[in-house]
Amino acid sequence: MTPVVAPSILSADFAHLASELQALEAAGADWVHLDVMDGHFVPNLTFGPPVIKTLRANSRLTFDAHLMITNPDSMLDMFANAGCDSITVHIETCPHIHRTLSRIRSLGLKAGVAFNPATSLHALPHIIDEVDLILLMAVNPGFGGQRFIPAVLPKIVQAREIADSVAHHVHISVDGGIDPNTAPLVLNAGANVLVAGNAIFHGPGNYADNIRALRSATQ
Ligand code: DX5
Ligand code: ZN
Repeated sequence: MTPVVAPSILSADFAHLASELQALEAAGADWVHLDVMDGHFVPNLTFGPPVIKTLRANSRLTFDAHLMITNPDSMLDMFANAGCDSITVHIETCPHIHRTLSRIRSLGLKAGVAFNPATSLHALPHIIDEVDLILLMAVNPGFGGQRFIPAVLPKIVQAREIADSVAHHVHISVDGGIDPNTAPLVLNAGANVLVAGNAIFHGPGNYADNIRALRSATQ
């Protein structure tokens, strides 16, 4: 199965985001991964609903929002109205994660749940009925260009088993340190979505070459 490639615009040129999105679309990206950071849950700040809304008017890509913010419940409506197609929240930020996921779905969006490298998947079987996307972090979130943490690999295998135990389709996405060397490892373990910033925006070729290199990565 061909993997979905989701470039993370954290590594894009923030002065020209609209044209960056158009370039990604022309280069064959499937989704665009929107890293929202609040300077609280993670030690960095990026952008929020107003910027996403502006980009929505300039792009047909699937908008995959990754909320690295505390108390995401209070802002779900704003992200939905901004035009996100999916919203992924961190399980570490949601005391009532089942409710949060079903609320995202009730807004008409795909619901995602993210796990930091040190967070186990013990809750996943209890919420999988409400999950459309599992996002496994292969770095500690906050910055692009970090080194891949291989301890994510057994978690991908575990997530794949849980995802395959339900009738609806669940994406398994891996985020952080993905490049043509690590992509085959995560795909073989059972992931089907590759989030990549550095490897696409600062890789050896143009965006299309770099996306192709990830998509065709095999071991
Ligand atoms: C990290 C973000 C990632 C990041 C990935 O906090 O969630 O999406 O931008 O960047 P690379 O691919 O450079 O590790
Ligand atoms: Zn991300």
